[in-house]
Amino acid sequence: MKLSHRLDKLPPYLFVEINRRIAQKRNQGEDVVSFAIGDPDIPTPAHIIEHLCQAAYDACNHRYPETAGLPELCQAIAHWYDKRFGVTLDPGNEVLPLLGSKEGIGHVSFCLLDPGDIALVPDPGYPVYSMSTLLAGGKPYLLSLTEENDFLPDFGAIPDEIARKARLLWLNYPNNPTGAVAGLEFFQEAVRFARKYDLAICHDAPYTEVAFDGYRPPSFLQLPEAKEVGIEFHSLSKTYNMTGWRVGMAVGNARLINALFRFKSNLDSGIPQAIQQAAIKALTGPQECIAEHNAIYQRRRDKLVNTINEVGLRARLPKAGFYVWAKVPQGYTSLEFTSELLDKANIAVTPGVGYGNAGEGYIRLSLTLPDDRLDEGIRRFLRWHTTSYREGK
Ligand SMILES: Cc1ncc(COP(=O)(O)O)c(C=O)c1O
Repeated sequence: MKLSHRLDKLPPYLFVEINRRIAQKRNQGEDVVSFAIGDPDIPTPAHIIEHLCQAAYDACNHRYPETAGLPELCQAIAHWYDKRFGVTLDPGNEVLPLLGSKEGIGHVSFCLLDPGDIALVPDPGYPVYSMSTLLAGGKPYLLSLTEENDFLPDFGAIPDEIARKARLLWLNYPNNPTGAVAGLEFFQEAVRFARKYDLAICHDAPYTEVAFDGYRPPSFLQLPEAKEVGIEFHSLSKTYNMTGWRVGMAVGNARLINALFRFKSNLDSGIPQAIQQAAIKALTGPQECIAEHNAIYQRRRDKLVNTINEVGLRARLPKAGFYVWAKVPQGYTSLEFTSELLDKANIAVTPGVGYGNAGEGYIRLSLTLPDDRLDEGIRRFLRWHTTSYREGK
């Protein structure tokens, strides 16, 4: 059998490799505390689960769903955007439910890029932006996100000839992995840039609901001109602890939404309908769970950031998202430091370089582990610091 050359371009998916290393350790009988994966440990709220159980008994939900999603789900998404962001969406043309936002992020590159076209991709960034660009035959041009620039891309630094060949600009705020946030002023700048070069913006925004200290991250679509140039990806995964249910959405520019629908309707058959019913419940039901979850993450964030700053790493307090982006001690690469923590302290984190070369020198720690495991992780960091830490290794 001969496999396609397309696959040669793809490195193993970052988390597949990390999970393999953690599993290997655990198989050897080791107890690993994992800060590696951003996957809520807090269960889906009970009222959503109960609704799924009821919907599962309804025979009309046993048949193929429509790729376009239930009209009631599109309406619920539009209603949620209106209530949360004051953004008006036409549920018939400006909303598309997805099998998790990752699915749409993967497919949209095929709607915008012809072979050789450039996609502007943040570095560090969620790996799917680059990988879907490569699969579609495009070329990622990496936009460095640096601490000095608050992890925002500098549009002025993009060469004119690159910008002219670019068809797509990826943005992601609140940001994974850096924990950075962006305001409407920044989005305004991005829209100006997109208009100048006639390119599409895809804003990936699954973390807007995970936020701390009273901060409310905006939607890119709050700008009246945003719909002209782009779409936003969102998801129920992080908002309602539903990563395993696979429900997300693309909203915004009707032409691009329609293109994504045409593409994916040839590949998938939509979200199982009982899950869509549960998603409607999540979006239209009580929302207090969000503040309750954020209070838990905020407590964990404060403890973890205090500890890692105490043990020779350096991290800012993130205002949103559930990641802490920490600078490794001098003398280590991010991979060396990740291995050091796994080998010496049985702590798993993700190396910053896994998100792109500009992530070198950092590690990412997720807050999605139960409190007792987080406390154990903190004890291990402190123990590692007293036994193994060497300043400027
Ligand atoms: C930045 C970002 N975008 C998209 C996703 C995908 O989310 P989902 O497919 O669960 O909606 C993730 C998941 O971790 C993410 O971190």
